[in-house]
Amino acid sequence: MSTRPVEIAPSILSADFLRLGAQVSDALDAGVRRIHVDVMDGHFVPNLSMGPLVVAALRPLAERAGAVLEVHLMIAEPDRYLDAFSHAGATAMTVHVEACHQLHRTVDAIRHLAAQPGVALNPATPIAAVEEILPDVDVALVMSVDPGFGGQAFIPATIGKVARLRAELVRRGLEQVEIEVDGGVDPENIRALADAGMTIAVAGTSVFDPRAPVAENVRVLRAACGLHASA
Ligand code: DX5
Ligand code: ZN
Repeated sequence: MSTRPVEIAPSILSADFLRLGAQVSDALDAGVRRIHVDVMDGHFVPNLSMGPLVVAALRPLAERAGAVLEVHLMIAEPDRYLDAFSHAGATAMTVHVEACHQLHRTVDAIRHLAAQPGVALNPATPIAAVEEILPDVDVALVMSVDPGFGGQAFIPATIGKVARLRAELVRRGLEQVEIEVDGGVDPENIRALADAGMTIAVAGTSVFDPRAPVAENVRVLRAACGLHASA
């Protein structure tokens, strides 16, 4: 059983970009307090997405709601862009361990920008790769697909990986570190992830699926992991 409530962090990569502001407002009205912005550079991942301009555009919405504006930096040499994202309004910044040569320095820089530092690991990257940095981050982001695209199939082995990471955090007295899972999270797998120790669920397709209103999709995800609609 999960002991901590799971926060839903909608990934705007799957939103209708023609109506981005309205879609994010719908999520915030549904009680969401963390907006996930996927930043891709066509180098670290085989796709291009968005940058600081989109973060700056969303900033007033996030600030009005008191929501965290989180950038997931799927880019090489993320250090070069931390200032720009901070100025644009990002209040959480997650970098990939695979993209950082001096991860401690990068995490330090994020902390100095008064943002929540996070470290992400790809599905094939072992937990051991982030062990040394765990005391310094607020978030460990476990990718449950290879990054680059929304709408990919969830890799089931992620559930065991999350459980092992949570056990490691507990063993080291670092229970406060959030475990965020990103990729293919849906009503079918969210409960198992929560029970394994996930505390933040990134969800793109399952939040912005146009077949139902955003608020309904958020409600279904919350209900699936045992949370009330208002949680
Ligand atoms: C993948 C991104 C994810 C993704 C989530 O590279 O980091 O945030 O867009 O979207 P879904 O929930 O559709 O997998
Ligand atoms: Zn992401």
